[in-house]
Amino acid sequence: MEREQAKELIRAAFRARTFAYTPYSHFKVGAALLAKDGRVFTGCNIENAGYTPTNCAERTALFKAVSEGVTEFSAIAIVGSLEGKTNTLITSPCGVCRQALFEFTGPALEVLLAKSETDYIETTLGDLLPYGFGPKNLEITPK
Ligand code: THU
Repeated sequence: MEREQAKELIRAAFRARTFAYTPYSHFKVGAALLAKDGRVFTGCNIENAGYTPTNCAERTALFKAVSEGVTEFSAIAIVGSLEGKTNTLITSPCGVCRQALFEFTGPALEVLLAKSETDYIETTLGDLLPYGFGPKNLEITPK
């Protein structure tokens, strides 16, 4: 992805991170999911006293988009760090989020794992989830 576009998507992820609800881990994550139509859906992690209902930033962004009828995506930017700390490590999506994204994007989704707007790794969902299980596996007659 072109640098200016990456910067903009990462900036949106940082903005979303400010809304993270993290009274338990204090680890704040923001994600910005770029739809093929150019719209950007953002998400933050939302924790819960019951712990298990916690939703990651990536799935918040994905579910916001899908629930508004948008199901085609080209890229996602992800940023995460402890509250009040700057990013020293990249935050890579958890296995559940990789699987959730794979359902809609397959391996082609571009993934930006960012420490800052200019310091990021660009990879793909296929690299993060090789041999992913997806909708094609459930087709009676595979295409
Ligand atoms: N988390 C995310 O939102 N996305 C990731 O990619 C990794 C982990 C959240 C879940 C939990 O609220 C906190 O980070 C610590 O695991």
